Amino acid sequence: MRYLKMFGIVLVVMFFLYDVNPIYADDIFEGKDEYDEGNGRQQHEEGRYEDLGELIGWCTFIGIGAAGMIFPIRTFLKSVTRTFPQSKGLYLYVAKLIGRYHILFGTMALLLGIGHGIIMYFNEGELENEGIIGLIAIILLSITAIIGMNLFNYRKNRSLRTIHISIAALSVITGGIHIFIS
Ligand code: HEM
Ligand code: HEM
Repeated sequence: MRYLKMFGIVLVVMFFLYDVNPIYADDIFEGKDEYDEGNGRQQHEEGRYEDLGELIGWCTFIGIGAAGMIFPIRTFLKSVTRTFPQSKGLYLYVAKLIGRYHILFGTMALLLGIGHGIIMYFNEGELENEGIIGLIAIILLSITAIIGMNLFNYRKNRSLRTIHISIAALSVITGGIHIFIS
């Protein structure tokens, strides 16, 4: 809960920081503010939220990546620590860290993804192909999270784990396609 609060504060600060410097390159080069005050401003407002939305989209991507790191880290745990025994301490430390914050990273990614989707939808005013694929990615991520919550209570349940990993992988693939075509 403490981390989620901190995360909320960071989001709010990010939002306000984004607002403090509304000077754009085209203000200078095209002089829109001088000649077309109302219209120019309208364009800048739209651009501003699209950029913020895209930034949050990339943060979603990083969040999913950080949560997903648990897979290669655990898969290669034995082989890496056996092959490089001198780096065992560091590897185990990173593996522990990724494991401890896995749920936090996943939940952050989900919240950021929802925020990104809402901003992009209102910015574009319609749901186009890339938006629909993004929506599928976020639905898959939500299912991943719900199954993950259950997995938290029944860690030994192998089929829950398999379903969690498979739907997470589908979400990563769909999210990747979404970013690729955006
Ligand atoms: C797993 C969830 C998602 C991830 C990781 C994600 C990530 C991203 C990223 C990184 C970009 C910026 C790409 C670029 O810089 O060109 C982007 C763009 C965009 N996303 Fe998402 N997104 C997700 C979900 C959604 C959802 C749910 C929607 C809408 C309902 C959406 C709508 C859009 C739109 C409209 C664009 C801009 C397309 C453009 O104008 O080029 N995304 N997304
Ligand atoms: C969104 C919220 C999420 C929750 C609540 C959640 C929850 C969990 C839990 C409780 C475990 C068991 C961990 C353990 O045994 O120590 C787990 C494992 C796993 N999760 Fe998630 N998860 C979430 C998101 C994700 C995402 C976004 C991905 C991938 C992109 C992912 C991939 C995995 C993988 C690969 C494992 C298996 C790790 C292993 O080999 O033991 N999870 N998750």
